[in-house]
Amino acid sequence: MSQPKVAVIYYSSYGTNHQMAETAAEAARNAGAEVRLLKVRETAPKEVVEAQEAWREHAQKTEDIPVASPDDMEWADAYIFSTGTRYGGATSQMRAFIDTLGPLWMEGKLADKVVTAMTSAQNPHGGQESTILTLYYTFMHWGAIIVTPGYTDDAVFASGGNPYGASVTAGGDPLGDEDKANISHQARRLVETTKKFIG
Ligand SMILES: Cc1cc2nc3c(=O)[nH]c(=O)nc-3n(C[C@H](O)[C@H](O)[C@H](O)COP(=O)(O)O)c2cc1C
Repeated sequence: MSQPKVAVIYYSSYGTNHQMAETAAEAARNAGAEVRLLKVRETAPKEVVEAQEAWREHAQKTEDIPVASPDDMEWADAYIFSTGTRYGGATSQMRAFIDTLGPLWMEGKLADKVVTAMTSAQNPHGGQESTILTLYYTFMHWGAIIVTPGYTDDAVFASGGNPYGASVTAGGDPLGDEDKANISHQARRLVETTKKFIG
């Protein structure tokens, strides 16, 4: 059986989605996948990032994490996306990365990829489900195979019961054990589904 190749692609200003992505990457590795942990490029002006201590510090802390590219998208069999909520949608940084993928999409190279998504928001009901759905709409246009957690494990209920994808309230550092268990379940489910598709 081939080893699934998984790209965990995230955007994080303050660290929440970085922790979520690291948790997912570790769980995917433990489930037998080859994993690339990748951040998307920062698009906010440097002076805006520098003006906020938490944002600046997080950017410095994660400067060694490679930036996601279209080549990574072609390499991977499966993707785990993680990004914060902005007014009920994904961050513009994540959308900007997605907008670079037009040529791959046109060549049909995003079709049949296995994909799932996670998010965070400041408020417990601040738009997590809609953010994940906006990503899933895009994945449908790719012809990707969307894997949701549904209610397939107790961990989903324990962390708030979002069947679309793991979603956490921003700012927990470190992430709570229940959120970590839920994210790990989603990552394992993605890897196990990918194994069925790649044979
Ligand atoms: C421009 C902007 C819009 C936001 N909109 C919402 C929102 O509608 N609802 C909400 O709960 N949080 C909102 N947030 C908070 C972010 O979701 C939160 O900062 C993010 O989840 C933190 O993730 P990170 O630590 O990975 O950057 C917003 C933040 C910004 C900067």
